[in-house]
Amino acid sequence: MATAAQEQAALVEKSKRLAAYQAVKDYLLPEYTRIGIGSGSTVVYVVEAIAALGPAVTSNMSFYPTGSQSEELIEAAGLRLQYISKLPAGQQLDVAFDGADEVDDDLNLIKGGGACLWQEKIVATSAKRFVCVADFRKLSARLGTTWKKGIPIEVLPMAAPRVLDELVRMGSQNPRIRPGLPGKAGAIVTDNGMWIIDAPFAPLRLPKDVDSANHTDTGSDGVWTVDALADRLIKIPGVAEIGLFYGKNGLEVASGAQKPVAAYF
Ligand code: 5RP
Repeated sequence: MATAAQEQAALVEKSKRLAAYQAVKDYLLPEYTRIGIGSGSTVVYVVEAIAALGPAVTSNMSFYPTGSQSEELIEAAGLRLQYISKLPAGQQLDVAFDGADEVDDDLNLIKGGGACLWQEKIVATSAKRFVCVADFRKLSARLGTTWKKGIPIEVLPMAAPRVLDELVRMGSQNPRIRPGLPGKAGAIVTDNGMWIIDAPFAPLRLPKDVDSANHTDTGSDGVWTVDALADRLIKIPGVAEIGLFYGKNGLEVASGAQKPVAAYF
């Protein structure tokens, strides 16, 4: 008989798969030719759902990865691989699909649990529409509520100690350099030759939390809004990119009990 943990794991996989198939059904239009593919375990199902459409739908499509994992996924599925560096200036992807570590009420995201956030943000912001595919565990009212490991921040290795100092000054509780994968000594090294710092902050406010005199978006009481924190983090010397994806453009959400799909951009 399955244990409670096994049942929960099976439910999570079912939810990821449902979300992925639903997202592809709703947001991959047959006339699209340029599609971004993100990273992580949920995206595996996105690629599976796309491949299941068959060459009649996918033969005119090119797929743009966000790192080595999604590059391998695209190739293994027999889909056409193309690189964002080859997308001419002035042109965009039709859509990009990716996962997330946490999604808040305003569809801001924490991303970077898989250390791919820099290329993920480049691909997401190169697309006319970004579709975040997330299982039921990922939705929470405020970022930092369920994803306790911290906001992933991609940094130049030589700057890591200075960035850690600044994060502590900003109120991060115990920011840490992410270790290498099991069996690999030292820090994790991203596809871009950088390190990742995970910086926990108290759950982040949204603009709707900031209208009373008790609240501030400046962090002076130790609680940041998403926008203010993102603006400040990206300015720290040595920070290449941050795993806060935020924006208010054309927000959409389609969610069911087991298949939340969040879309923005
Ligand atoms: C990788 C990411 C992933 O999208 C995020 O970690 C979600 O992964 P999963 O689908 O495995 O839960 O941002 O950098």
